[in-house]
Amino acid sequence: MALLEIRDLTKHFGGIIAVDHCTFSVEEGSITSLIGPNGAGKTTAFNLITGTISRDSGSIHFDGRDITSAPPHRIARRGISRTFQITRALGDMTVLENLAVHAHGRGLMSLLGPSVRAEEREKAMSLLEFLGIEQLANEKAATLSYGQRKLLELGAVLMSEPRIVMLDEPAGGVNPALLETIVERILELNKQGITFLIVEHNMELVMSISDPVIVMASGAVIAEGHPEKVQSDPAVLEAYLGGPGE
Ligand SMILES: Nc1ncnc2c1ncn2[C@@H]1O[C@H](COP(=O)(O)OP(=O)(O)OP(=O)(O)O)[C@@H](O)[C@H]1O
Ligand SMILES: [Mg+2]
Repeated sequence: MALLEIRDLTKHFGGIIAVDHCTFSVEEGSITSLIGPNGAGKTTAFNLITGTISRDSGSIHFDGRDITSAPPHRIARRGISRTFQITRALGDMTVLENLAVHAHGRGLMSLLGPSVRAEEREKAMSLLEFLGIEQLANEKAATLSYGQRKLLELGAVLMSEPRIVMLDEPAGGVNPALLETIVERILELNKQGITFLIVEHNMELVMSISDPVIVMASGAVIAEGHPEKVQSDPAVLEAYLGGPGE
């Protein structure tokens, strides 16, 4: 069964159609990639799914429920968690505190400052160990390298025990060694049952870890399927060659 189902989703910004009658679904247990040239509408689709912007028309179902008009916190509570194309770690807080503010049901507590409760600390520490950055627990997030921040972001989304993790360009700007760690962790988490929807421009990464691959161009899906099939699809080649480019 599809865990996430996007039907006929449309979003305009003024005169621009960012997402244009977009339809696709993400199967439970899959690592699905969403690719497409710059400006194809991928991040906008993420924003619509997580409820941070509202759609003009179309619907979004998660686990059989209509979440089209649900507010972001309710969507998150259902088990949808995401990272951002530009990392959003809070630089003044430590790595551990950054994870703690993402803990499930923390709500108002997080407004009272970054004090960390015991069970949150334990959960955060075990995630940091899993990601191989436990030695950074008490460092300010601002001192982390770009790749380490990506790992921190992955840790943060895992704090709420999501069913689907949506990653917006996890490989962007990350050095090859850290990228390998990120990929390994994604595969391990997927084995544990977490579904992934990944937006990424690194084609080697996309083609090696995901199935299926969904290709968007000008707001709509133009191809989807096994990575090899999509890679040789003439419509896909044309979208990349004829589009605005990297
Ligand atoms: N808040 C906004 N206001 C106006 N236009 C926007 C807004 N957000 C996105 N757009 C436009 O919508 C279109 C889709 O943008 P989006 O960021 O979703 O693309 P993308 O596929 O994520 O691209 P990239 O690969 O470069 O990240 C683009 O034309 C973009 O300029
Ligand atoms: Mg984007």
